Amino acid sequence: MTFTKIQPPHISFFSNLLGEKYVLCDSENLDRCASDETEDLHYLPEVVLQPGLVEEVSAIMKYCNDQVIPVTPRGAGTGLSGGALPVFGGVVLDMKRFNKILHVDKRNFQVTTEPGVITQELQEHLKAEGLFYPPDPASKGSCFIGGNVSENSGGPRAVKYGVVKDYVLNLEVVLPNGEVIWTGANVLKNATGYNLTQLVVGSEGTLCIITRIVLRLIPAVKHDLLLLVPFRSAVQACEAVNAIFLAGYTPSALEFMERDALEWSMRFVQATGIHLPADIAAHLLIEVDGNHMEELCRDAEAISQIVQQYDIDEVLFADSHEQKQMLWTLRRKVGEAVKSNSIYKEEDTVVPRAELPELLQIIKSLGREFGFHSVCYGHAGDGNLHVNIVKDNMSDADWNEKLPQGIRRLFKEVVRMGGTISGEHGIGLVQRDYMDIAFNPVQMALMRQIKQLFDPKGILNPGKILTSL
Ligand code: LAC
Ligand code: ZN
Repeated sequence: MTFTKIQPPHISFFSNLLGEKYVLCDSENLDRCASDETEDLHYLPEVVLQPGLVEEVSAIMKYCNDQVIPVTPRGAGTGLSGGALPVFGGVVLDMKRFNKILHVDKRNFQVTTEPGVITQELQEHLKAEGLFYPPDPASKGSCFIGGNVSENSGGPRAVKYGVVKDYVLNLEVVLPNGEVIWTGANVLKNATGYNLTQLVVGSEGTLCIITRIVLRLIPAVKHDLLLLVPFRSAVQACEAVNAIFLAGYTPSALEFMERDALEWSMRFVQATGIHLPADIAAHLLIEVDGNHMEELCRDAEAISQIVQQYDIDEVLFADSHEQKQMLWTLRRKVGEAVKSNSIYKEEDTVVPRAELPELLQIIKSLGREFGFHSVCYGHAGDGNLHVNIVKDNMSDADWNEKLPQGIRRLFKEVVRMGGTISGEHGIGLVQRDYMDIAFNPVQMALMRQIKQLFDPKGILNPGKILTSL
């Protein structure tokens, strides 16, 4: 595909449409939109556009489609698979002006929002109304809800409450040719035709531009309790995860952190007050929530009994709001802490939950074989393990050539175990070349045809998920 380079007449068209203020060509803005939170990647766009109305998005798409100019939509830039990077230059469609919560329908437990609202701000707005939107990616304080829908994000609460897809009822989207459609209806049940809504969820900005989102909500939950359990064996920590479910408990979060993950995060946020004995290999951070405190105390007590059968140190029950906040901050900051420590690659493996101990063992044994050091953490209750591979002393040659072979082996093992290559970060740019491990040629051809149907000229977020149209 040959794309058109941006020329002065294109800039004039965009300026007439949006006003000069929202057509950005300065190096600071181009640079801002050249990166996201994925590794240290950098791809400059030729222009950044900031539309504020669906009609403007529609006109931009129609024009870029006619002119064959690539368009890459961007939320808050917190993505972890390079989804927002304009790898072919062209336009970055910066959705930050779509920042309004349009309508809270309390009677029906629904909210209609624009995509550029920060997820945590949306959650707090809803909480004040007694409503709960559970998905809570680690970046919730800065990511946009539109990005969450595009990536089908998860987060710690997914283990009990599900991921973003479980809350999206309906989407207003702009197709690459400029047409504007709603994908479904604002209803809890819908058996009407193909499910366009769920096709768009997780499509990583490759099919259409999301301009409005209707989410299903649930009543706010009153209480939660948090436990930190230190294990002397990381594999045993993974085994304990399944034991908790088999005993009949569904925590509202069940997170795993290898020793390095917690230690690096403690250093990163300069946390004090957590004692980390030398023989501790991993922790589980376990939260239970509900409306009845006595019941929660009983559940927390039962869970702490279950973990006693493993080789653990003393269980820490968070006894104040501040302590809970601190533990959650430590958990949420692991990714950033690793990033600040070394050049790294993050894999987002997911297997059926009971296979988690095997997954961890395989990661470590591949690390020995291919010479890489990994820091593992993540949503153990979902079988979703983030594998941060740090460069440390690895040579550039090993990092660039040997490591991808190790990652290939890891993904093949994951698929053999019944898992897949991304649980919540998406494929984007950085996992694209591994898609053949998750899907056979027939499945890949079907995906290419779907892309072609939506975007025949391949102008929308080119180079993501699929290697070519
Ligand atoms: C987390 C992000 C990296 O779980 O998904 O911290
Ligand atoms: Zn995660």
